[in-house]
Amino acid sequence: MLNKLRYPIIQAPMAGGISPVSLAKAISSSGGLGFLAAGYKTVEALEHEILEMQQGNDLFGVNLFVPQTDAVNEKELHAFMTVLQQDVGRELGKPMYSDDEWEGKLALVKKYKVPVASFTFGCPDKVLIEQLQVIGTYVIVTVTTVQEAKLAVSQGANAICLQGYEAGGHQASFENIDIENPLPLVALLRKVKEVVHIPIIVAGGIMNGEQIKQLLAEGADAVQLGTAFICCDESGANEVYRQALQSGEFASTKLTRAFTGRLARGLENAFVKNYSPVAPKAYPALHYVTQPIRKKAIAEKNAQVMSLWAGIGYQQIRPLPAKELFQLLVEEAGLE
Ligand SMILES: Cc1cc2nc3c(=O)[nH]c(=O)nc-3n(C[C@H](O)[C@H](O)[C@H](O)COP(=O)(O)O)c2cc1C
Repeated sequence: MLNKLRYPIIQAPMAGGISPVSLAKAISSSGGLGFLAAGYKTVEALEHEILEMQQGNDLFGVNLFVPQTDAVNEKELHAFMTVLQQDVGRELGKPMYSDDEWEGKLALVKKYKVPVASFTFGCPDKVLIEQLQVIGTYVIVTVTTVQEAKLAVSQGANAICLQGYEAGGHQASFENIDIENPLPLVALLRKVKEVVHIPIIVAGGIMNGEQIKQLLAEGADAVQLGTAFICCDESGANEVYRQALQSGEFASTKLTRAFTGRLARGLENAFVKNYSPVAPKAYPALHYVTQPIRKKAIAEKNAQVMSLWAGIGYQQIRPLPAKELFQLLVEEAGLE
């Protein structure tokens, strides 16, 4: 499938409404691969997006969250909720478990024979991967380590998306683990290439064509960019988020569990600073606990409390129409 793309540039799926159909269409119709993010959406909303996306686009992807099996430490979660409650009052949500409507969303991928499916937070088993491949779906498993890459290969994935610690949003690791001694993306790619012989898509901190050229020269088969597209006209990011990314108000990003209980990289605002040291490993329970806080922050346009997911390269964001940015990336990378 990757060799059917005119350019090996993929728009990262970005849950939370950041990568709507308009963005995915702009990228797919420019000769890259546009992605729909199924995460946190209802099955009905995803079906609507797939139907819209199918019109006029042969190639696009749908990204799914693999249900979590990590145990939540209830004691730590409740201790953290007590701390939060003291600060924000009654605004906490219920600590729920959800499989993000896994079966319903998978059924849609099968029903509409979606051309590309990528998986995050785990590796689907061989049987499921084969079922998808039989109907013509190209299966990508997102991985963060050599070990996870090997597992994805053993289960029959068509390709891996190798995500570096530089990436914006959640780390896709199969388990809710800490990251110790992270390797820069290029070094991680070199290590993975020693043992993996299926196509490798790389993601994390990629903002310009020069980086794309370097990663392709290192043997990546394609690149996946998220943060670079957040301020495009077609993105679903709200104004406060766009402003926070571009204003210089936030000087750095940080990997934090403060919002969801799973490591994710975002701008280091007050919420991240205050709660990262004490946030428990409790995904997706903590996602639901902080949901009302995050919603209120959006309504109040309070960037200090919103989850402002961003990769380390956010200062290089170019707020352009997606097609224009895509064309610039192609030219800078010498892909034309
Ligand atoms: C706002 C945001 C939301 C994201 N949501 C998802 C998602 O739903 N599924 C997924 O696999 N990756 C998600 N990611 C991670 C991207 O797939 C990708 O790994 C990351 O954007 C690459 O790093 P970059 O942002 O520095 O380009 C998200 C990233 C961001 C910034």
